[in-house]
Amino acid sequence: MILVHENVPFSPHYFTKSKTKKPRKYNITLDFGGHTISLVSSSGVFSKDHVDLGTLVLLESLVLPEEGEVLDMGCGYGALGIAVAKSRPKLKVTMVDVNPLAVKLARENIEINQVTNATALRSDLYSQLKGKKFDIIFSNPPLAAGYKTIFPMIEGAKFFLKESGCLVLVLRKGTNAIPRKMKEVFNNVSLISRRSGYKVFLSRKTT
Ligand SMILES: C[S@@+](CC[C@H](N)C(=O)[O-])C[C@H]1O[C@@H](n2cnc3c(N)ncnc32)[C@H](O)[C@@H]1O
Repeated sequence: MILVHENVPFSPHYFTKSKTKKPRKYNITLDFGGHTISLVSSSGVFSKDHVDLGTLVLLESLVLPEEGEVLDMGCGYGALGIAVAKSRPKLKVTMVDVNPLAVKLARENIEINQVTNATALRSDLYSQLKGKKFDIIFSNPPLAAGYKTIFPMIEGAKFFLKESGCLVLVLRKGTNAIPRKMKEVFNNVSLISRRSGYKVFLSRKTT
């Protein structure tokens, strides 16, 4: 079960009338797999003041191995990757995002939560992951970036997955072109979960 607590905005300049616009910061708490995870976030990243519902639906649907390597593609401030790493301490979790602020926050959140089995790095899709292979690649994909980003994300997954590894994406209802693309690339796609207007799709790499 996942519980998300009300977030509390904080800022060292919260009570001062600064003319320069400082990024507003947020504290978010997420309960997952028996762990309470404290996250810092900030203006300038996706779903800055709460864990996105699509992210929660994806997190609930992931069937995680005890060991192996997984990739959180487009990690934002790290809610998914950190929750996964906390709940499976023997898994190696790689978290990537193209937004440097998101990566900075994800690294802070790794520290805050004393996670030793996750790393966050800046990468445009798979550009910094050469030589890596994963058991699972999961993502709440950047729909705002469009198919020009999401289609290469799906195509790249086939290369960066181990044999029998899977790609798991959460999508809002209506985005049919994305599961179609998953089917085209992997020759299979299944709907593994649906809740509150979100659907989770899985494709498996087979020979
Ligand atoms: C929908 S958000 C999900 C963020 C986070 N996983 C969550 O669930 O809160 C998609 C993320 O993908 C990142 N992104 C967009 N284009 C990317 C790219 N080319 N490579 C890697 N990450 C990208 C965005 O910066 C954003 O953080």
